[in-house]
Amino acid sequence: MRQSSLVVVANRLPLDDSAAPDGACEWRRSPGGLAGALHAILQQTPATWVGWDGTVGEARTLPDVGTLRLRPVALDEDETRGYYEGFANSTLWPLYHDAVEPPVFDRGWWETYRAVNRRFAEAAAEVAEPGATVWVQDYHLQLVPQLLRKLRPDLLIGFFLHVPFPPPELFMQLPRRVELLRGMLGADLVGFQRPQAAHNVAQLASKLLGAEGADDAIALEDRVVRTGAFPVSIDVAEMRSLSARPYVINQAKKLRHDLGSPKKVLLSVDRLDYTKGIEHRLTAYSELLRDGRVKVRDTVMVQVAVPSRERVETYRGLRDRIEREVGRINGEYGRVGEPAIHYLNQPFDRADLAALYQTADVMVVTPLRDGMNLVAKEFVAARRDDSGALVLSEFAGAAAELEDAFQVNPHDVDGLKETLLHAMSAAPADLARRMAAMRHYLTVHDIHAWAQDYLTTLSFSSQSRTASI
Ligand code: UDP
Ligand code: G6P
Repeated sequence: MRQSSLVVVANRLPLDDSAAPDGACEWRRSPGGLAGALHAILQQTPATWVGWDGTVGEARTLPDVGTLRLRPVALDEDETRGYYEGFANSTLWPLYHDAVEPPVFDRGWWETYRAVNRRFAEAAAEVAEPGATVWVQDYHLQLVPQLLRKLRPDLLIGFFLHVPFPPPELFMQLPRRVELLRGMLGADLVGFQRPQAAHNVAQLASKLLGAEGADDAIALEDRVVRTGAFPVSIDVAEMRSLSARPYVINQAKKLRHDLGSPKKVLLSVDRLDYTKGIEHRLTAYSELLRDGRVKVRDTVMVQVAVPSRERVETYRGLRDRIEREVGRINGEYGRVGEPAIHYLNQPFDRADLAALYQTADVMVVTPLRDGMNLVAKEFVAARRDDSGALVLSEFAGAAAELEDAFQVNPHDVDGLKETLLHAMSAAPADLARRMAAMRHYLTVHDIHAWAQDYLTTLSFSSQSRTASI
């Protein structure tokens, strides 16, 4: 087995293979922000990525992607249900997102979650060279840092949580709260999107483990774990160069034409997930149409809702409700050849997404809770001039950074309606000022700065070892 000095461990590999229209297999980027963000920084770095390829059954041997080796971990049917759909996405995911849907506590899932975490830890131990840096990602693998430390005490171990870490009163609901906290604190450095998360963990560590917890370090019996906020970002340069491609520019023009050359295009791009606030957004838009404050002849909404976690009942129910509501809105307010909402339940590749971002006048990003939300950042990076408005939920991690967005509380539907109208009618000079400030911020705080910051801090967390990208 070939070993690496840098190992990333994440539930998903960065690539899924999926059936092309002609039935052949083709590789495409895995869904979600985590895969994209990490893939961007690992393209030129010799590293191994341990993860699941998204299929149920035997693991396959996968070819290297440039300098990146892929080490698949297979999940069988029971593991997919108990670990991925169950404990990770029906217990932790909703609980960590403010319980906007009630978390399910099923006692049968825990053992599977623990066993799968063990397999990921074993795979990482196998591919890490002596003294290597292993960077574990997200809520699926919260036990891996501690398990891996037992297997390989020589490693430098980082953990990064891409989703919010909940307030103590929510985390305390978890039947396995002590194990989950200890598991994560097996790392040398635990990183979060927001400082509040580190504060929550410090409080829990002192309450549940009797540890001395501060917002940047937690003293356990035998060692100190560093903690801190490292807001994840995007590959700004890649998005800019993509956006300057003739295909993207022409596609943006074509899209606008195909949409009937409306005065305003509103765009939302989400995984079809209940945390993303899609239903609240549809309610707001529908009421604006009902009250005649928005007219179908001059405004159109495009909602990309990428299929996600479709075997989980809550996601299926959400999809049904959204599709019924889009149908109702189009039925009531659309005209022949002029739907009020273009609903696209399919994934788009990077170039087509960049074209969509360029087509939009108002990007509407209104999650009820989101660790970061990279779509908001991509929209800003994809703009080729200072036009365009970003409406952004206060409850997305990105809101703390993109202060010049039109910020909104998505639970307040009346406030959301007013903010949408405000963004649609803002003066070009106001939009230009906001966009320039956000663009400037992202230029400095891109994905490379994020990785550098995290890995440098990790290397200082243990004086004898270093890591760099
Ligand atoms: N994305 C994509 N194709 C699509 C829709 C989204 O590649 O059709 C990507 C998007 O560019 C972004 C990621 O999926 O990088 C979504 O990340 P975000 O942080 O916004 O949300 P998440 O899905 O991780 O909750
Ligand atoms: C979020 C999570 C990621 C996850 C992604 C897509 O971004 O933080 O860990 O990979 O959603 O979800 P999926 O269940 O399809 O992997």
